[in-house]
Amino acid sequence: MKRLRICILGATGIVGQHFIRILHDHPFFEIVAVTASPCSEGLEFGKATDWMISGSIPPDVSNMVVQETQLGKILKVDPDIIFSALPSGVALDIESDLARAGLPVFSNAAAHRMEETVPILIPEVNPEHLKLVNYQDYGDGFIITNSNCSTSGLVMVLRPLIEYGIRNITVTTFQAVSGAGRTGVASMDILNNVIPFISREEEKIANETCKILGHLENGRVVSAPFDMNASCARVPVLDGHLESVVIEFEAPVNAETATKTMSGYTGEPQALKLPTAPPRPLITMYEQDRPQPKRDLTLSEPELGMAVRVGRIRAHQNRLNMFLLVHNTIRGAAGASVLNAEFARAKGVLK
Ligand SMILES: NC(=O)c1ccc[n+]([C@@H]2O[C@H](COP(=O)([O-])OP(=O)(O)OC[C@H]3O[C@@H](n4cnc5c(N)ncnc54)[C@H](OP(=O)(O)O)[C@@H]3O)[C@@H](O)[C@H]2O)c1
Repeated sequence: MKRLRICILGATGIVGQHFIRILHDHPFFEIVAVTASPCSEGLEFGKATDWMISGSIPPDVSNMVVQETQLGKILKVDPDIIFSALPSGVALDIESDLARAGLPVFSNAAAHRMEETVPILIPEVNPEHLKLVNYQDYGDGFIITNSNCSTSGLVMVLRPLIEYGIRNITVTTFQAVSGAGRTGVASMDILNNVIPFISREEEKIANETCKILGHLENGRVVSAPFDMNASCARVPVLDGHLESVVIEFEAPVNAETATKTMSGYTGEPQALKLPTAPPRPLITMYEQDRPQPKRDLTLSEPELGMAVRVGRIRAHQNRLNMFLLVHNTIRGAAGASVLNAEFARAKGVLK
């Protein structure tokens, strides 16, 4: 089967590197071009990037010349699909221009996430939101986003619990430094420290969670009416966002029942056996001190960093308390985007 030609925007950053790692030998996709900022343009990828993730740069990508992130230059390489790992401010115009030029754009940036007809797609959670692309004004092209890295783990845990009647959600995050990008947090600030503020993160978690868990009406999302309360902190951990979640329900909930509901949950990506889908999206843990970023983020088969770990599940009257752990640059970023593209292809939206 012919593989679709892909161009990765912002390929030299942390999320871009994970895109390359996941996509360089993907059964459906073939990397034909990589772009970055003017500082990297014209250099071979291997010289332009500071490779920070496990494994080596695939040799075929290492020799690619980094292109300018500019419409005409990108169209010249004749891609079938765009994966974007650009900073939000840079992503806004170029992603729209590429979609208008007829290309499907799978984006990690926040720039278009809250637009009415742009889905924040997590195929295990809101597969029906894929239909929103039919209401976009981009002709043959479209934009599909994945969520903010903390939101991705949270909505995956909330989705199977909705049947118990959620009233409100309080989440406190302990977020890894890789969430801020390759040059995001100065070591002088984060070593031996915890920073109880991440710019715009709390608003993003609240708004995105309600949009993702909302329902479709006339080609628009009606956000879920949950009362959300988020507090975010940056911690001196390399990868993996840990989140303390407290959910209040309309009636008392049993911890054992909720644990079974979460661990048995699967969605369309599992039924379709998509290459990047983990067999079990939620892995519940019974040890009293887990999950932990250092011990429980696994990039190996069968999870590939795409499952969310949940532990310390405790019930108290109408409340359920738990900790979840999500790989922020994989399930919360590059892996999420690749899964979206696999899902769109399986549903015939990506041809
Ligand atoms: N890190 C995470 O956990 C995570 C999770 C979810 C979503 N996201 C989102 O994903 C996107 C990428 O994040 P990241 O962590 O990979 O950031 P990053 O490590 O800082 O990488 C940014 C990339 O964008 C390129 N870039 C910067 N300015 C540019 C410009 N003016 N024109 C063209 N390219 C430019 C950089 O190229 P140079 O190398 O040449 O500077 C680099 O390739 C962001 O929108 C972020 O919010 C990140």
